[in-house]
Amino acid sequence: MTDIKGFARHRRLRSSASMRSLVRETQLSVDDLIYPMFVIEGEKLKREVPSMPGVFQVSLDLLLNEVTELDELGIKAMMLFGVPKEKDEQGTGAFIETGIVQEATRLIKAEFPAMLILADTCLCEYTSHGHCGVIHRHEVDNDASLDLLAKTAVSQAKAGADIIAPSNMMDGFVTVIRQALDEAGFTNIPIMSYAVKYSSSFYGPFRDAADSTPQFGDRKTYQMDPANRLEAMREAKADVEEGADFLIVKPALSYLDIVREVRNQFDVPVVAYNVSGEYSMVKAAAQNGWINEKELVMEKLLSMKRAGANLIITYFAKDAAKWLNQ
Ligand code: PBG
Repeated sequence: MTDIKGFARHRRLRSSASMRSLVRETQLSVDDLIYPMFVIEGEKLKREVPSMPGVFQVSLDLLLNEVTELDELGIKAMMLFGVPKEKDEQGTGAFIETGIVQEATRLIKAEFPAMLILADTCLCEYTSHGHCGVIHRHEVDNDASLDLLAKTAVSQAKAGADIIAPSNMMDGFVTVIRQALDEAGFTNIPIMSYAVKYSSSFYGPFRDAADSTPQFGDRKTYQMDPANRLEAMREAKADVEEGADFLIVKPALSYLDIVREVRNQFDVPVVAYNVSGEYSMVKAAAQNGWINEKELVMEKLLSMKRAGANLIITYFAKDAAKWLNQ
């Protein structure tokens, strides 16, 4: 590359759009995108989440319209979160056969059998206290929660979920969920583990969307400290050993160093979760006319791929699919 003047001509490979696409190292495709959706109990509801413009809580009767749109855009995978009417101490709504996510899964799979349904396996949307497990003496009880999470995963698989995605951060959840799925005959249902999930302020808008704000305390005794990198590798290693088929790193943007490191150390597909707060910040800036939304969104999704993510869970999936299809 060095020329007669003794320096490299990097600009040679940037000279035109065709040249740049010829040497582009990272591609973003619709196949990489997973769209998260909030399904709410009730009728004729399509409520925009105030802190997440363009994201809605949708009731079952209106759900298939949304899925049709995803299907037409070429999106092949969606993740379901439930917003139930009733909550209790145990989070019963998470694992009953008539739970909102189970109903939504059956409905979608009947109409769109090829659409991959990822079920978020957690209790926080269903517990009256808003924590991801059951409470004993003001603490989230790890092992008591595991039983309920295993039940939740099996009920989601029975309803037709294609992938189980546990986000609760209890120790041992991959082991117990794998065992419960296998015993119930779901040996072929993969686990996409939220292996590396930080205790993050970037989840704020999600907790409005899913109505899952903890009623006391915080999630710091089970979600990870944002300061830690080596601990992320221990979490990921344990989950792979326990049988995780995919590893999620969450949030994405402030944690791309972790995405890269997980990519380098493990050989399963790595998933970046581009979380609610990361979405809302972009939306707010775009609404103020401060940024070019399309270019910024495509740049940040590409940066997650470049960091090593194979897949991205993002509320921008529909917009990105539209832009990619143009
Ligand atoms: C449930 C769960 C959360 C998110 C995904 N699954 C919330 C939390 O842990 O508080 C956050 C997703 C987002 O912010 O987009 N445990």
